[in-house]
Amino acid sequence: MNSNPLFITGGAGFIGSALIRQLIAESDWHIVNIDKLTYAGNLESLAMLSNNPRYVFSQTDICDRTALDRLFAQHKPAGVIHLAAESHVDRSIHGPADFIETNIVGTYTLLEAARAYSSSLPKAQADEFRFHHVSTDEVYGSLGANGLFKETTAYSPNSPYSASKAASDHLVRAWQHTFGLQVLVTNCSNNYGPYQFPEKLIPVVILNALQDKPLPIYGKGDNVRDWLYVDDHARALRMVFEHGTAGETYNIGGHNEKTNLEVVDGLCTLLDELRPRSDGKSYLAQKIFVADRPGHDRRYAIDATKIGRNLGWKPQENFVSGLRKTVAWYLDNDDWIQHVISGEYRNWMKQNYSNRESS
Ligand code: NAD
Ligand code: DAU
Repeated sequence: MNSNPLFITGGAGFIGSALIRQLIAESDWHIVNIDKLTYAGNLESLAMLSNNPRYVFSQTDICDRTALDRLFAQHKPAGVIHLAAESHVDRSIHGPADFIETNIVGTYTLLEAARAYSSSLPKAQADEFRFHHVSTDEVYGSLGANGLFKETTAYSPNSPYSASKAASDHLVRAWQHTFGLQVLVTNCSNNYGPYQFPEKLIPVVILNALQDKPLPIYGKGDNVRDWLYVDDHARALRMVFEHGTAGETYNIGGHNEKTNLEVVDGLCTLLDELRPRSDGKSYLAQKIFVADRPGHDRRYAIDATKIGRNLGWKPQENFVSGLRKTVAWYLDNDDWIQHVISGEYRNWMKQNYSNRESS
């Protein structure tokens, strides 16, 4: 067991919280969760850990170098898994500034704090310190009908979000090449599962369906995404952090290519079975086609051969099992949903959290 903790940035978000829940349940790691708590940060997703002695939360902006230096000096982490980001493509189109600030300037600031900390360590310890940057398949751009994104695919980001993530990937790589920081980069496809904020396709559709609202499908609904259950992503992140080769990139994907229409239809069918509408009609009746996303990438699909071959990772869920679990979770967790809808989740920490660091 490593007595030094792991820093997880963005741990109050969808994937970060899944990773922390999994690491606390299945490993010996002590975790320091560093999160600014933007609209996307929800500590209620970590409610079960609020008194756990292996878990600490610090409300900190990754752009705040002074606060980061203090955290590194205080906790002496064994490594960082960096998930904090602005993550929603539509928001990046309406307002790119926060994406530039957090995803690029924030990653740069965190890299500099990590570099300063690791260079203060004895050489053997510095060589062990790892900075794992969690990124997206969107940096590779858009595929046509055929082909898969490989680790060697040239970057071609199309949205302000993906351009900001591409920039951060390049910074991370440069910090290894120039300064010798031990880095790992993972590029993953679309995640889905419990605790996802209702701005992304799957939770939007589930929540709108249950509230008798339209289910908005951009364009013709024929864009393709490669869906991965969030716990499978979390498992891959742990494997890469613990066993990956520093300096390498690993693509992570679910081999679950679906058109958006297939996803929405699948969700409606599950909801028809698990929570039928009171009027006896199908939720399919709530589908509407709306204006397309500007610059909408046509298709993403990941070649995950490398992480499978080198680290033995493969997803445990397929889309049928994962989607059923996801719908069931949303149906069983009305409190979490109602607090998100009402905005109450933003006050949740003040009322309920005990293991919060004063900053
Ligand atoms: P999310 O939007 O659910 O969570 C992001 C978290 O980062 C939030 O808790 C937020 O409060 C925090 N945050 C934002 N700005 C911050 C700042 N300046 N300082 C500290 N914390 C800040 O995102 P997610 O879907 O969980 O994605 C996590 C990471 O994984 C992101 O880097 C994203 O690019 C990447 N990713 C996401 C997906 C996906 O399908 N969701 C797929 C591949 C990669
Ligand atoms: O590929 C990985 C990326 O997946 C991550 O890096 C991003 O953080 C994550 O948000 C996700 O990006 P997408 O843009 O693919 O996800 P989103 O859920 O927003 O949209 C999925 C598809 O569904 C996309 O083709 C747009 C479409 N869509 C989305 C919404 C919100 C709709 O048709 N209607 C909707 O209401």
